[in-house]
Amino acid sequence: MAFFTHHVCRGLSSSAVRNVAIKHLTVIGGGQMGAGIAQVAASTGHSVTLVDTNGEILKKAVKGIEGNLKRVAKKKFSDKPESGEEFIQKALQNVSTSTDAAAVVQGSDLVVEAIVENLKVKQDIFSGLDKLAPAHTIFASNTSSLSITDIASSTSRLDRFAGLHFFNPVPVMKLVEVIGTSATSQETLDCLLNFSKVLGKTPVSCKDTPGFIVNRLLLPYIIEAIRMYERGHGSKEDIDIAMKLGCGYPMGPLELADYVGLDTMKFIMDYWSAANPENPSFAQSESLNKLVAEGFYKYK
Ligand code: CAA
Repeated sequence: MAFFTHHVCRGLSSSAVRNVAIKHLTVIGGGQMGAGIAQVAASTGHSVTLVDTNGEILKKAVKGIEGNLKRVAKKKFSDKPESGEEFIQKALQNVSTSTDAAAVVQGSDLVVEAIVENLKVKQDIFSGLDKLAPAHTIFASNTSSLSITDIASSTSRLDRFAGLHFFNPVPVMKLVEVIGTSATSQETLDCLLNFSKVLGKTPVSCKDTPGFIVNRLLLPYIIEAIRMYERGHGSKEDIDIAMKLGCGYPMGPLELADYVGLDTMKFIMDYWSAANPENPSFAQSESLNKLVAEGFYKYK
């Protein structure tokens, strides 16, 4: 049974990644994204070690996973509560935690990093793990905005390094962006595309460009909504209602800005505008900068 619930990468190349089943993964970062990735992987039969340097964050993450699994089970097994309980217990048994990535990475087929959007911090983590992880282990970053090529450059496994970008809330959002650099092997990409499907997601292939597909379209849209509000062309409420009812989006752009986090939005825009100062889509938003500077992370 387990054999069929895990993707097997069968490649013809002479790369070190060959016939690797992603059975065990290490997820670095116990925040919302890391916990969501761990939850989805555990509930699809993978053994997951969730790593964070802060033990309290890990405790909170596991509690959150349990709560979300109950939510899923209630819906999925509404007429069979005992099957729902079994689903929850099985998934929870698949999750372990650690505060020491170096100690757990040896057994991992895949390392997914979902930590703070700081290039140096990500590079340091991957460069350390590169020396310890088995040759076949694929490294992936869940970065929303940084260049995968830049993160990967800290390792010696450029062919086994890619982006694996999930969306918030991970258990609900069906998409995964699989991002290849010019050095990522086709075998690694195929493995991640199939792994995403095994997780019950729909993967899309992306180039390593700022924001990949979704955020490259989403961030300028949200920023334009903020500018529209700044210009007085619509109230916050009306802008959100318009896009929800006019386009069928589950959240309006300003509500979504709050959901993504204004600080996260600002971080991404700052990084892009510094790298592409001539691109008007990445121009700074005064009110976003002001709200974040004043410590407000919500429009509402
Ligand atoms: N775990 C499991 N299930 C969850 C969940 C979670 N964390 N959060 C919500 N759900 C489920 C609920 O159980 C519910 O299921 P049913 O409809 O089958 O009963 C469903 O999701 C809807 O949840 P709610 O009824 O609580 O709330 P809602 O209808 O208002 O939906 C939402 C909430 C799913 C967040 C919805 O508003 C939505 O899709 N919003 C847009 C989210 C979005 O665009 N995300 C992408 C952000 S961008 C990003 O992530 C990229 C980046 O890099 C910045």
